[in-house]
Order: sequence, then structure tokens, then C-alpha cells
Amino acid sequence: MDVYGIIGSPVEHSLSPPMHEAAFRERGIDAKYVTFEADPDRIEEAFRGAEALGIDGLTVTLPFKHDAFEFTEPDEQIRRVGAVNTIDFTESGPVGYNTDMTGTLRAFEHHDVALEGTRAVVVGAGGAARALAFGFEEAGATVQIANRTASKARDLADEVPEATGHELEELPDLMADADVVANATSVGLESDESVAPADAWHGDLVAFDAVYKPLETRFLKDAAVAGAQTIDGAWMLLFQGVDAFEMWTGEDAPVETMNEALRSHL
Ligand code: ATR
Repeated sequence: MDVYGIIGSPVEHSLSPPMHEAAFRERGIDAKYVTFEADPDRIEEAFRGAEALGIDGLTVTLPFKHDAFEFTEPDEQIRRVGAVNTIDFTESGPVGYNTDMTGTLRAFEHHDVALEGTRAVVVGAGGAARALAFGFEEAGATVQIANRTASKARDLADEVPEATGHELEELPDLMADADVVANATSVGLESDESVAPADAWHGDLVAFDAVYKPLETRFLKDAAVAGAQTIDGAWMLLFQGVDAFEMWTGEDAPVETMNEALRSHL
């Protein structure tokens, strides 16, 4: 039997186990997917232990994505992001991926949104914003980053080719000329607030929210009212899992099954 899991702190309420177990079942793969609540002071030991035990793959969540980056040998693209959320323990050693980034791009493809040549605004400058900014740039969008702490937006923009950093107050002006607006802040998480003013939305925008609790955030509700297309945060969660599954097993992921399993647990 193959063993996979999610490592983080906390991981108790993770939606990854039902999503991956449904995928393994659907594909007839004899595998288990378990949760590992790791001690932050012993995270490197935990990764080594997983490798020594013959664990096949790990999803890495907060606060260990940078530790996972240091533990694995990431490729050039992931080196820029500085975070790894998926480890594949291969015969030649642990390989790190950032499927938060690749998965978000697949979520956009799934919704028939082409990012190439678009103007994409990322709101926020933390870990989630990094994955989105590098992902959008990779997909051929011009990235603008707006953040409450503007210096952090500018620092991130300095790392992303062609990107610019902005104050949060500039968000309505940025939205006026944008094609895509992504919320990568924690605003809206278990609250009915939005980081974007309701009247800044217009029908030519695509709205993406990395927050998935609740699924229908104020950010997405305001966008929908203005006629914008919306993509909720569960799609990012789904496709980071889809990409991980495909990396680990070499098989096409049963996307519909995983989506149903995920949404039934939200
Ligand atoms: P993550 O790694 O999940 O992205 P994070 O690093 O804590 O989380 O980043 C949270 C983001 O939400 C930051 O961009 C933060 O802005 P600051 O850099 O100014 O702290 C943003 N954020 C959190 N609360 C906010 C609020 N009330 N208004 C605007 N932005 C907020």
C-alpha cells in the first residue's frame, strides 16, 4: 500500500484527506492519505522521518512551505517562489513542487479564462500572493500587486518580472483597467468583508478569491452583482490537489470525483 499525507500545524480540519482518498478509490489505487501534525521545532526531522519511513508523497501546508522548499531540491521556477506545497519522494530523493501556483492556473483554464496578455491585480503580499503573482506572470499576464503595507507589495513586485507594487488605496483605479483581480489577503475569511470596494467592480473583470471559508465571500458576491465572472477558492484547493495526485501517481486525476468530495466537506 502507498502512503501519502498532509503535514502542517494545524491540519486537523484539512479537506485534503477526503479529496485524495476519493481519487485513490476512483482510480483503484491501494493508498492511504493521512494527516501529520508536526512539531514546528522538529520539522526537518519530520521530513527526514517521512522519507525514511518510505512515505510516497506529502502535501505541505502552513507553516511549513518554506521548510519544505529548503528540504527539497526545487527547480528554477519554484526557487523564485520560495515555497513548496507538494513533496514527491522519488527513488532519486525528495522533489518539491508548488501546486498552489500551477493549480491556480489550472483553475483558470478550467473556467476558460486565458491569462496570457491580461492585466492581473493581486491583492496581498503574503505567501498566497507570492504563488499567485508568480503563477500569473508565468501564464503571461502583467501583474500589479496592491497591499495594505505598500512596501511589501513593492518588494514582491521587485521579484516578479514586469510587476508593479501599489498601495491598497489604488485598488479601485487598478481594477478599472484590469482583466483579473485576485484576493490573496485574509480579508473575508469567516467574515462578510471585502478588500475591494463594491463599486470598483465591473462586468469585464474575472474575480478570484483564495479564501474558501465561506465559499461565497463578500469579494465574490460584489463581483457577481457587477456582472464579473467569479472563481471561488475551492478551485485552487481542488487543482493543487489534482496536480499533486498526478505528480505522485503519474495518472490523470479524477477531477469531478475530487471536486465532489471536496465540496461535500466544505
Ligand atoms: P498568507 O501567507 O496566507 O498569504 P499572510 O502572509 O499573513 O498570509 O498575508 C496576509 C495578507 O493579508 C497580507 O497581505 C496582509 O496585509 P499586510 O501585509 O499589510 O499585513 C493582508 N491583510 C490581512 N488583514 C488585512 C486587512 N484587514 N486589510 C487589508 N489587508 C489585510
